[in-house]
Amino acid sequence: MAEPDISDLVANRLRDVADFPKQGVVFKDITPLLGDGDVFGAVIRELASRHTGSSSAQPIDAVAGVEARGFIIGAALAHELGVGFVPVRKVGKLPGDTVQRTYDLEYGTATIEIQSDAVSPGQRVLLVDDVLATGGTAIAAWDLLGGVGAEVVEFATIVELAFLGGRKAMGERPVRALHVVG
Ligand code: PRP
Repeated sequence: MAEPDISDLVANRLRDVADFPKQGVVFKDITPLLGDGDVFGAVIRELASRHTGSSSAQPIDAVAGVEARGFIIGAALAHELGVGFVPVRKVGKLPGDTVQRTYDLEYGTATIEIQSDAVSPGQRVLLVDDVLATGGTAIAAWDLLGGVGAEVVEFATIVELAFLGGRKAMGERPVRALHVVG
């Protein structure tokens, strides 16, 4: 029997929540996916597959994930690949020297940060999150990592909301999405 398509597996475990976090927004909730061990495992193995095993695999030295849901995906993926995990946090949560980046949201701004010594110079980092929407978060995280010396090889996400233009905003930065909406 053929393996089920990963995009379909994701789609079947996504829940649309109307008017969250605010009126008019349809929130893509990944909680059902995380709660299904088979699908969560399939998602992590699929994300890992590009970076391990075959001769054409793109090797990486670390996985970086964006707080909060990117931590869940990123930590599992780092464990699967046998590499370390770099947390990209909302501002004010990390001890020691940090670097920050502020970016625009639909209303207002947000600031994320990483520790200045989060990576070694030239380390190849895979950046992950659960959702790509406008791309503001992913671009800020990518540029933060690059600014402390990482070579970010790819942004990988479970869900891409194509109608919000994140992939275009990412420009030359490679994007991989397991499931694309709209
Ligand atoms: C969500 C999601 C991404 C970001 C994508 O995070 O997890 O990090 O938005 O949006 P963008 O492409 O428009 O930047 P959220 O800020 O809701 O944080 P959470 O993971 O802590 O819920």
